[in-house]
Amino acid sequence: MFANSRSINTAQTGPHEHLLDLLERHRQEVFRKPFAPWNVTAFEQAMARWDQRSPLILDAGCGVGWSSLAIAKDFPDHFVMGVDQSEDRLGRGKPEDIPENLCFVRADLVDFWRLLDVQGIRLARHYILYPNPWPKIGQLARRWHGHAVFPHIPRLGGVLECRSNWRIYIEEMALALGALTGHTPSVDDWAPQQAMTPFERKYQASGQALFRLRTDLNGDTHG
Ligand SMILES: C[S@@+](CC[C@H](N)C(=O)[O-])C[C@H]1O[C@@H](n2cnc3c(N)ncnc32)[C@H](O)[C@@H]1O
Repeated sequence: MFANSRSINTAQTGPHEHLLDLLERHRQEVFRKPFAPWNVTAFEQAMARWDQRSPLILDAGCGVGWSSLAIAKDFPDHFVMGVDQSEDRLGRGKPEDIPENLCFVRADLVDFWRLLDVQGIRLARHYILYPNPWPKIGQLARRWHGHAVFPHIPRLGGVLECRSNWRIYIEEMALALGALTGHTPSVDDWAPQQAMTPFERKYQASGQALFRLRTDLNGDTHG
């Protein structure tokens, strides 16, 4: 029971009481913040790398990109975009060559997700692995499901997978997805044989419990 509390310092004991109100506000309001030119350029460059025919996978907040490399290997007939805002993380040495079906993109996901959506691009798979938890009660709006961009995420479709070492983060995302799509994914314990990302490896090495949700936003609830 206390494995997870070692890592996440929070006063929250369950999903945030304002989550659904905030989400409803975001669902009703159009998110009008103008796109930053550097994100539009990054988006266009990424689109130019993709043949527009292969099924598209987004590794959102890929950090140093280990997961993107693994996903590209697992899905050789898909095209993978590993997106992160951190040039430093993206630029760190990779354990292997970058394959043809993968590109790394430095961009702010808040714009990148919206650009995908407004261009009508739909995903085959979508990974959000170990997003920053923002665990203080006043930080709800910084978590992805509390952010104004969130209503765009289920519209992108595909099999969405989110992992975290904070169970409440996954519970909240499941609730938010349920409110937007009518299907609330289950929150599962997650104990991978082999870590897919550096954060996963770090949390496993320190004995923390991990959690995930996986849901097919195109309708099949098994993902
Ligand atoms: C906790 S790290 C997890 C990285 C990686 N998925 C892993 O598991 O090792 C969160 C990542 O999200 C990225 N990130 C946070 N906010 C972002 C945003 N608005 N746009 C793009 N990347 C973002 C950070 O730069 C960081 O690399």
